[in-house]
Amino acid sequence: MPYDTIIFERVGDVAIIKLHRPEKLNALNKKILDELDDCIKNIETNHSIYGLIITGSGDKAFAAGADIFELHNCDKQTGKLFSEYGSYVFKRIEQLPIPVIAAINGYALGGGCELALACHIRFASENAKIGQPEVSLGVIPGYGASQRLPRIVGKAKAVELIISGAMIDANEAFRIGLVNKVFSQEELFDKTIEFLNNCLKNSKLAIKASINCINKSQEMSLLEGLHYESERFGEICGTKDFKEGTLAYLEKRLPNFTNE
Ligand code: COA
Repeated sequence: MPYDTIIFERVGDVAIIKLHRPEKLNALNKKILDELDDCIKNIETNHSIYGLIITGSGDKAFAAGADIFELHNCDKQTGKLFSEYGSYVFKRIEQLPIPVIAAINGYALGGGCELALACHIRFASENAKIGQPEVSLGVIPGYGASQRLPRIVGKAKAVELIISGAMIDANEAFRIGLVNKVFSQEELFDKTIEFLNNCLKNSKLAIKASINCINKSQEMSLLEGLHYESERFGEICGTKDFKEGTLAYLEKRLPNFTNE
């Protein structure tokens, strides 16, 4: 898949997307979003990809936000479309049925932070700087931070981050639960892929169903969500992986999952 503004790679069962405009700190312009959209469509239909890592090219940035040169041209009508397009692409990333990890290797600001928020898990390097500086540009978050950030760090912290526009470092982001783990910059990628590969030793079908249920928990009432979980639990009990996983435990051996 030849792209100009992203790099797509495979490492075994895992796909890697690198945002690739390092000279612009990987700022998210229309072309990056178009290429991300195309790449996600390919991942959705590629059944040999079991995990995805999104990171940034270079050692300075994950993504320093939406492209301010393009943003500046928005008016009332095009601004809404600008926001809807980014939200649509990020929503599809969130809805992927495989674990998606943001490896935040530097600045994750504005739309860059929002892309990381749409991922299922966030790992950061020690030099990461994370924030939603939109209000300093006279605008509001447009790719989902007003909705996802409160769900991840709580309403008060989300309000603090968004109305201050302040950048926080990786340790503070870890303290408030915005990132799951912090590594040195040298270790970030290897540790992220190691974590993902360890997860993928579990039943991939069960991982997929778990992510699906957890995503639904953000949209459903508790009662609806519990009902939804029971439905999926029943389905999983009909799989070979379930029989194999439970039998392997009873026989005191490692399971041999076949993804069926
Ligand atoms: N949109 C477009 N271009 C951007 C960008 C963005 N969000 N963020 C950085 N760039 C570009 C800069 O314009 C510069 O391009 P140039 O070399 O052609 O002038 C290049 O990336 C490097 O950025 P620079 O500002 O020189 O790096 P720095 O290390 O001095 O500062 C930041 C880094 C992240 C603090 C600074 O680039 C910044 O504040 N960026 C905007 C962040 C933001 O407000 N994002 C939210 C957008 S909604």
